[in-house]
Amino acid sequence: MRYFPINQIKAGMILGQELHDASGKMLLAQYTKLTAENVSYIAFLGVPGVYIDDQFSKEVEIREVVRPEVRRSAVQIVQDIFLKAAGGELTPQEKAIQENVEEIVNNVLENDDVMYNLIEVKTYDDYTYFHSANVAILAGVLGAKSKLPQKDLGSLVTAGFLHDIGKIFVNPDIINAPRQLTEEERIAMMDHPRRGYEFLSGNYNFPEEVLLAVYEHHEWHDGTGYPRRLKGNQISPLARILKVADVYDAMTSRRPYHEPYLPSEVVEYIMGRSGMEFDPESVRVMANELSVYPVGCEVELSDGRHGIVAENHRGFVLRPTLKLLDSGKMLDLLNDHSALNLTITKLMM
Ligand SMILES: [Fe+2]
Repeated sequence: MRYFPINQIKAGMILGQELHDASGKMLLAQYTKLTAENVSYIAFLGVPGVYIDDQFSKEVEIREVVRPEVRRSAVQIVQDIFLKAAGGELTPQEKAIQENVEEIVNNVLENDDVMYNLIEVKTYDDYTYFHSANVAILAGVLGAKSKLPQKDLGSLVTAGFLHDIGKIFVNPDIINAPRQLTEEERIAMMDHPRRGYEFLSGNYNFPEEVLLAVYEHHEWHDGTGYPRRLKGNQISPLARILKVADVYDAMTSRRPYHEPYLPSEVVEYIMGRSGMEFDPESVRVMANELSVYPVGCEVELSDGRHGIVAENHRGFVLRPTLKLLDSGKMLDLLNDHSALNLTITKLMM
């Protein structure tokens, strides 16, 4: 299976992963042979690209940390919480959330050897739901690698689901504005962590560490974040991890005000701001765990050759194993002597 940017998708290609919307409805099944109508439909959805199953990349296997159905029900649960809360319906959802959180935590712990490696195929309109589910899963992965106790992992994943719930109190026009916000709008927007904290503590029964992580997910390590300008270890441990997961997913997504950044660009951005915006320990864990060159993607080497990323090596995220496009041979950038002078110069996305 390999990843193709949307402009390279053609009729006749076989879809490698099913495509679904935020409500969990399947739009196109896995192994669908794409028609011209399917191709224009995928483009219309606004997804940046899809996974395609082809003969060449047959042995490139994409393993996910969290099973697709668990991920899908996470998106549904988030959607449910947000829509009900926005409609003033305060049915207790702690149990449904807790069940899904447990499944995610179990998946994360079981798949300890799998690197987080996904270019999320998400549509533009349903951003908040996909984003919250992604942040929950990614935070769970980072938390597990930080050796958090299982109970804290559960709280961290729960906080991932709920971190932006305060946005239901912010005018949607402000949230999706493809322009610079006015001072007044910016203040309203920056109030969402506090609004979320108050909403959750007033209406639900979540543990205090979940509430704090929601409250503090925009605080900066150097004390220049919001809303309370907390600093370093004044910021709760879960919020420090959540912050990295939130920024990673937001930057790799398509938003009204920016195109998705490449994973490599985002990892570099976050590493560059370690100790300033981000907690250094959380950054260190992220740099070892997130695939800079996700499996299935095409890259260019410094000698001009191209290959598909076949496998990543933990801790050496810049030196994956590739399947070369010209010869079909595998090249391990970490261990093959012939590859020691080569670097990846470009991710083709
Ligand atoms: Fe937020």
